[in-house]
Amino acid sequence: MKAIYPGSFNPLTIGHLDIIKRMNAMYDEVIVAILINEGKKHFFSLEERKEMIMKEIQNNNLDKVTVMTFEGLLVNFAKQVGSKIVVRGLRAVTDYEYETKIALFNSSLYPGLETVFLLSDPRYSYISSSGVREVAHFKGDVSPYVTKNVEQEIKKKFY
Ligand code: PNS
Repeated sequence: MKAIYPGSFNPLTIGHLDIIKRMNAMYDEVIVAILINEGKKHFFSLEERKEMIMKEIQNNNLDKVTVMTFEGLLVNFAKQVGSKIVVRGLRAVTDYEYETKIALFNSSLYPGLETVFLLSDPRYSYISSSGVREVAHFKGDVSPYVTKNVEQEIKKKFY
């Protein structure tokens, strides 16, 4: 079974990485799919985000995981790569509302496509990329939310 983990990953957090590790244990193949979002150009570029995720995959020996980028509808990407499984992490009820809307759109656009929700580890349930960006913007300590490598990249670029 091949599953897709889509997102903006701007930047990858330890919450994202936890989901990727859990997916590596669940599926035969995992594709981390980074959304090419022209409207969200701030913070890390697509290439930088991809590079950071690939580094973590190597460091953690996640041999079933590959990283790709996609533009437009996720369902079209899913068709292209031949997968009918999308995984998203759920942190709180607010995620539930947002995620069910996307999941229902996706399954109506592509019947048979399943969205699987993994409950986020409670240690990470408050961590978000937007929170990390805000802490980084004011030069706060981002080390509790991201990996060492991502922390270094943030410091190199913004501090
Ligand atoms: O990390 P994010 O920004 O919460 O990820 C959101 C993402 C990329 C999963 C979602 O915005 C997406 O799939 N966008 C592509 C457009 C699409 O297919 N939308 C679904 C119909 S609403």
